[in-house]
Amino acid sequence: MGNTTTMDYAPLAASLAGRLRDRGTPEHIAKLFVRVPRHRFLPDVYWTEDRTRVDRTDDPATWLRTAYTDQALTTQRDDGRDGGMGVPTSSSSAPSVMARMLAAARIEPDQRVLEIGTGTGFNAALLAELLGSRNVTTIEVDQALAETARAALYTAGYTPDVVIGDGEQTPRPASVHRIIATCTVSRLPWSWLDQLRGRGRIVTPWSPSPGAPGGVLAALDTHGTGLAEGGFEGSLAFMWSRNQRRPGGPAPDTDAHPEHVETVAEDPRGPWLDGEKSLLLSLLMPDWTFGMRMEPGADEPHVWLASTRCSSWARVHADGRVEQDGERLLVQEARTTWQWWEHKDRPGVDRFGLTIDRENARQTVWLDGPQHALWTTHRQIT
Ligand SMILES: C[S@@+](CC[C@H](N)C(=O)[O-])C[C@H]1O[C@@H](n2cnc3c(N)ncnc32)[C@H](O)[C@@H]1O
Repeated sequence: MGNTTTMDYAPLAASLAGRLRDRGTPEHIAKLFVRVPRHRFLPDVYWTEDRTRVDRTDDPATWLRTAYTDQALTTQRDDGRDGGMGVPTSSSSAPSVMARMLAAARIEPDQRVLEIGTGTGFNAALLAELLGSRNVTTIEVDQALAETARAALYTAGYTPDVVIGDGEQTPRPASVHRIIATCTVSRLPWSWLDQLRGRGRIVTPWSPSPGAPGGVLAALDTHGTGLAEGGFEGSLAFMWSRNQRRPGGPAPDTDAHPEHVETVAEDPRGPWLDGEKSLLLSLLMPDWTFGMRMEPGADEPHVWLASTRCSSWARVHADGRVEQDGERLLVQEARTTWQWWEHKDRPGVDRFGLTIDRENARQTVWLDGPQHALWTTHRQIT
C-alpha cells in the first residue's frame, strides 16, 4: 500500500461535497460525503470512467485525488476472474449518482434501509452515517466483495449488517422502509415488495430488458397492497443484477435473408445511435433489443433489432438500407412510435413511470400517470 498519509483527504472530500451541493444535492446528503472518506472503501487498484488504471502503489496522490472526483470507479472486472475482457462487474458509483439515489429514496429518521449491491461498502457507510448502522442492511452476491466491504466498513467505524447472497431473494431483515438497489433490474423481484412494511419506497436502476439501451432511475412507492408505483427520475446506467444480465451475443436471426427491404435517403440508424432517443424508444416500444455489428467489407456497423417476444428482426444500414423480417416490422413500429411521441409533445423520461402489480403478476410502463398505460409485461410469481 502506497503512502497517501502525506496528503489530506479532508479538503478533497469537502470540495466534492461542495460540487454536489452546487448540483442541487440536499445538505443532509451532501454532508455525508464529507464525513465518510470514500478512499477508505477503494481497493489499491481501480479504473476510472475512461478506463485508466489507477494504482495506489505507483501514484498514491493520483489515487487519492481521483477518489474524490465525481466518477464511477470500477473496482472489479470480469467477476474477479483473470483473463477476461475487462468487463466492469463492481464499482464505487459516481458520488452525484449516489446522492441522487439517496435523495430519491426520501429517507426519514429511524427508518430501516436495505441496500442491494454492497460493492465497496461506501454507500452502506453513507446510509449508516445517516441512519445509524443498526438501521442498515446491505447484501452483496459476490462473497469476496462482501467480505472486503465488511472489513472496510468496520475499519471506518460502521457496523451495518452485511449479508452475502442474492439480493433478488428475500434477504434479512424481514421488513424495511426503503430499498435502494445499486444494480439494474428489468424484472423487479417480488421479494422486494415483501420486504417493505406498509408505506415503503424502492429506488432502483430499471431498464425494460438487458438488451435495451440504457436505463432509468425508478422511484416506486408501496402501500402494502402488493403494488409498487412511481415515476422515473432521469436516465441512469448501472451494471446489471447478476441474475438478469444479458445472455450475450447478437440475436440469432440477424444473418438471415429479410422478407422486407427498402432504401431510404438518410442514414436510418439515427434513433439507435443517439443515447437519449434510444432510451425513450425503449420506454415507448416494448419487447425489443438491439446491438451494432460490423459486416465484412462494410465501412460502418449496422444496427440490428430483435423482438424479445417473437422471431422478428431488422437490420438498419448506414447506406440507407432497411431490412426487416417477421410478424413485427420493427423499424416501421419504431417510426410509428416516434411519430406518436412527437404528437405527444416529445415527453422526456421524467414523464414516464412504472407500476408493479404483484397480484396480477405484471409490470406496466405508463406516460403521465398510471391511468395511461403504454405497455404491460406479464410475469410469473415465483
Ligand atoms: C455498482 S456496484 C455497487 C456499488 C456500491 N453500492 C458501492 O457503494 O460501492 C453493483 C454491485 O451489485 C452487486 N450485485 C449484482 N447483482 C446482485 C444481486 N443479485 N444481489 C446482490 N448484489 C448484486 C455486484 O456484485 C456489485 O458489487
